[in-house]
Amino acid sequence: MKTDHRKLNFNAGPATLPDAVLEAANAAIYDYEGSGLSILELPHRGAAFQKIVTECNMLVRELCGLGDDFEICWMQGGGRMQFAMIPMNFLPQNGKAGYIVSGHWAEEAMQNATYYGSVDSICSSKSLHFTELPIVPPNAGSDCAYVHITTNNTIYGTQWHHVPQVNAPLVADMSSDILSASRDYSRYDLFYAVAQKNLGIAGNCLVAIKKEFLARQVRSLPPILDYRAHISENSVLNTANVFAIYASLLMLRWIKARGLTNIESDNKLKSSILYHAIENSAHFAAHVRKIEDRSLMNVCFSATTPEARTLFDEACKEARITGVSGHRSAGGYRVSLYNAVSVDWVRKLVEIIESL
Ligand SMILES: Cc1ncc(COP(=O)(O)O)c(C=O)c1O
Repeated sequence: MKTDHRKLNFNAGPATLPDAVLEAANAAIYDYEGSGLSILELPHRGAAFQKIVTECNMLVRELCGLGDDFEICWMQGGGRMQFAMIPMNFLPQNGKAGYIVSGHWAEEAMQNATYYGSVDSICSSKSLHFTELPIVPPNAGSDCAYVHITTNNTIYGTQWHHVPQVNAPLVADMSSDILSASRDYSRYDLFYAVAQKNLGIAGNCLVAIKKEFLARQVRSLPPILDYRAHISENSVLNTANVFAIYASLLMLRWIKARGLTNIESDNKLKSSILYHAIENSAHFAAHVRKIEDRSLMNVCFSATTPEARTLFDEACKEARITGVSGHRSAGGYRVSLYNAVSVDWVRKLVEIIESL
């Protein structure tokens, strides 16, 4: 497979994929492991697909360090489906859910919960345009069915590098930093991550739930909206997105082969050289000022003059760099440094910043 024409893709998601993953996916599209069927034709209830799901679950358990107290399933509907399903399943009608509002996605998740019960914005950095993390008050969530956190704020480039102390089951949207570093995943009662950033392609979402939390399900729901039904059907309650789950398997194998510790140190290196170049340039300014709040995954910054912007855009085009525009609501630039982005790519970007 010819990969040398590929652009240096810093998009926030769908994000770049490793060449090895693209090559394996390409081969499987033609013939899945000598079966005479394309992966796109593979029956979702057949043994071959069950094997894919089983290996995905096993790798998530291994890489996230999860024990038998967790259930794992793979779903469609993206992050927004989880925004709705979490309160649907766990927020009683007369109950309350706490949301740590550190960005747009956290806010949208909270908005979804208002359909099922009441919500408490336990802290928010909205007045600061989400350019820093809010401060979680002591004893947060003591009257809540759960507290929801977004561990990495894709749009603004902030990230929680520690697990905040709360007094309720903790639910996390890890869509943009899952498996980017080793962390204690078992501290969460439920975590979910859309696949299109660090775990593969759109159309698949990982959900991991502690059995104890699952037992707190609060209402009777149609099976498609009920976590227990997805788990008891082993992620094939309906026709599964076979190809997207297979892409996640390829990514999980790739992450395991590289090692989470190496991935984490590369992610730290990539973000530190990029932030360092921005800080030392008169032509750019980082959006997130507090070093401890900065994301290793999404680096957001602006050009200080229209001339610098033009020069930077031209140099990126020339270097075949793509996907560096900021989110439409934040403006400026956003460089996403997910696991598949190489240190060499970031060095190219840094060279451009330093040459202006
Ligand atoms: C942290 C986070 N959560 C949720 C979403 C929404 O995911 P989806 O578009 O799959 O609903 C995104 C999208 O980028 C995200 O970055």
